[in-house]
Amino acid sequence: MRHFKTDKPSGSTNNAIGSSFIHESAVKQVIGKAAYIDDRPEEVNSLHAYPVLSTISSGKILSIDTSDALQIEGVVAIYGTQDIPGKNDIGPVFSGDILLTDDVIEYHSQPILLVVATSYQTARIAARKVAIEYQETAAVIDIKEAIANKSWVRPPHALHRGDAQQAIKDATHQVSGELYVGGQEHFYLEGQVSIATPTEDGGMFIQSSSQHPSEVQHLVAKVLNQPFNYITVEMRRMGGAFGGKETQAAPWACLAALAAYYTGRSVKIRLSRSDDFKSTGKRHPFYNTYQVGFDDNGLITGVDIDINGYCGYSPDLSDAIVDRALFHADNAYYYPNAHINGNRCKTNTVSNTAFRGFGGPQGMIMAEQLVDDIAYYLGKDPLEIRKLNLYAPGRDLTPYKQKVEQFILQDMIAQMEQESDYWARKAAIESFNKTSPIIKKGLSLTPVKFGISFTVQHLNQAGALVVIYSDGTVHVNHGGTEMGQGLNTKIAQIVAQTLSIDMQHILVNATRTDKVPNTSPTAASSGTDLNGMAALNAANTIKERLFEFAAKHFDVKPDSLALVDNQLTHEKGQISFAELINLAYLNRISLSSTGFYATPEIYYDREKAEGHPFFYYAYGIALSEVEIDVLTGENTVTRVDILHDVGNSINPALDVGQIEGAFIQGMGWLTTEDLSWNDNGVLASNAPATYKIPAIGDTPAEFNVTLYDSKNPATTVFKSKAVGEPPFMLGISVWSALRNAVASITDYQFAPSLNTPATAECVLGAVQVAKDWLQDQKSGKQGTDKKGTGDA
Ligand code: MTE
Ligand code: HPA
Ligand code: MOS
Repeated sequence: MRHFKTDKPSGSTNNAIGSSFIHESAVKQVIGKAAYIDDRPEEVNSLHAYPVLSTISSGKILSIDTSDALQIEGVVAIYGTQDIPGKNDIGPVFSGDILLTDDVIEYHSQPILLVVATSYQTARIAARKVAIEYQETAAVIDIKEAIANKSWVRPPHALHRGDAQQAIKDATHQVSGELYVGGQEHFYLEGQVSIATPTEDGGMFIQSSSQHPSEVQHLVAKVLNQPFNYITVEMRRMGGAFGGKETQAAPWACLAALAAYYTGRSVKIRLSRSDDFKSTGKRHPFYNTYQVGFDDNGLITGVDIDINGYCGYSPDLSDAIVDRALFHADNAYYYPNAHINGNRCKTNTVSNTAFRGFGGPQGMIMAEQLVDDIAYYLGKDPLEIRKLNLYAPGRDLTPYKQKVEQFILQDMIAQMEQESDYWARKAAIESFNKTSPIIKKGLSLTPVKFGISFTVQHLNQAGALVVIYSDGTVHVNHGGTEMGQGLNTKIAQIVAQTLSIDMQHILVNATRTDKVPNTSPTAASSGTDLNGMAALNAANTIKERLFEFAAKHFDVKPDSLALVDNQLTHEKGQISFAELINLAYLNRISLSSTGFYATPEIYYDREKAEGHPFFYYAYGIALSEVEIDVLTGENTVTRVDILHDVGNSINPALDVGQIEGAFIQGMGWLTTEDLSWNDNGVLASNAPATYKIPAIGDTPAEFNVTLYDSKNPATTVFKSKAVGEPPFMLGISVWSALRNAVASITDYQFAPSLNTPATAECVLGAVQVAKDWLQDQKSGKQGTDKKGTGDA
């Protein structure tokens, strides 16, 4: 059952906001008309390029022999580092991300050369024919080795308040634990792809499946040693991105541009699925430890958390990602005394990158682990411990000293407890488990509090360009990119509402760097917050001009003017919007405007580790019910209830779609998506056959998503809230429910730790730990004491 408002009556245009318009591309996608880069007709004489990828993870190149490859018919050229006219370093924030290497190899499948040929197949085959000799050195794959060597891609950073160690020592009870948190492959349906076409001015026109067209523009310019104004990037839509195309679409565009620069022809690069798996970064795996002190009621008095992100070989975005893990290691709970340290560990693997939640999920899961551990230790219900420790008035300061100002989780949980029958279901599950020897059920309700804003301050800005043609139709450009999330649809709704015209008069299509410049990535869930506000400002500028003109032209009082239902109304009468526009045109009124927006109030002082990094928080809760088979570890999610806060929803259907998709993606991350590298750093799980994302059959049989009824107290566009990432972390409830099911074996006295992904194998391991613990208790052995959380 889905709970959301359906389409408003089409008679009125003053309520575009809040209506469930279908996604701007939906019909085109269903009938196959929505074009992705690889669907575009190719230019005459187009070429294809394919990278030569390293076959070792660590070492040096001794020799390269391209003679066999060059002999293959159709091979046009092979380029290497010496051919790069500008910079070979394409690091987005810090240096260290290399386009091609001719010397040191730092990860398996690192690009070395670029083969250019007349067909895709030829380029791929020739790339494999390049003979390279290496001197191999031992690769660092294990994160604990990197930690022991203090091998970082960026220096550590820590949050602190009070004396955490003293507070833990002084507490009535202490618990400690550790958790390995797995990474995740983005598995966008459309892989990395780019086409570069030389322009008549000697510049480059780039089509790139990128969340960050401006950065692609800048990096192509740097690689080719050209000014920014000679490079234009266009991005119509992505077939999914999920963070994987924030920085890591750029190298492929740069390589295509390098080949186009020399050949003077249009060049396309598209990675095969398994090369995309191997040579692009993923969600960072983490290894985290914690200690917590608390009183008899389970009230937390101090925490000490150590967070270690597995960054791969270079900085990429890892500094900001580990920061976001730190900022979310409290999740929704108040830690009076806290020390939270974050390490950026360097390993000989591909550089890990942004992925929905951007490190937040890997930090947040620690908070959920420690509240669960407190509950099992004290023999209390985990939900009671969660409620007790929530941020509340007077207990409102985060470890980075931002004050929490909205306290809706209490009410959301109360609503869920009642509407989803938490207590009755919990009782039923406990009695079921007593009599069911093989199938055990588990239940868990976990909250999400997610900070909205880029943690890099200057990225919190956006531009838009609204143009009205003389027939009254509107074209909107903005700095954001469409990746399936429905951004273009929401932006059209914002403009429709502002001008009070029907949606069919508004077109939002390709993002282009020559229309809206200096844009930020569409990331941090901020696409609508930033670009929507910029589009609103642009539309309002034109609206003001129209009102000023109409007041004079019709000789009416300015405050009698209103745009309503495709009309301009005033004290003397009315005129249709299209007529008004034509009249304004004839009277030489400018009908286009840019709009700009910069998020107010946010800052972060890194020296002091404090500030106000987030404009506001988005909230949600999920209640998941699972079943495990204690003989095999197999498990199923049987029912999920979600209550999520999107503020005043701009488009309830799109928001519910984002919540459903994010939850399922989060569940996949924590249960079945198992990245596996061998000791040499080769990714063994590099195709759908060996890497399991959730399928439709994994969707919970009962899946209820409800939007929480509230407006954003922060001044966002129409009081809405960002939705893209926050519900991803609702998936943590599945993992917590799996632990709850395992804990039933010990009568909830002890819950083994459950590393993620909690695959069937991993759940079975935890079941064994629980059974051993029980055996030890029965035979009177001291064995594992209650304080340990064991290790599955
Ligand atoms: N939804 C779809 N369908 N496809 C995607 O690639 N990316 C997610 C989220 N939802 C994604 C998605 C991520 S990681 C982010 S940051 C946001 O969308 C970005 O878009 P927004 O800021 O417009 O919400
Ligand atoms: N989220 C996503 N991308 C980013 C961020 C962030 O917080 N900061 C810099 N790039
Ligand atoms: Mo999303 S990980 O911020 O692209």
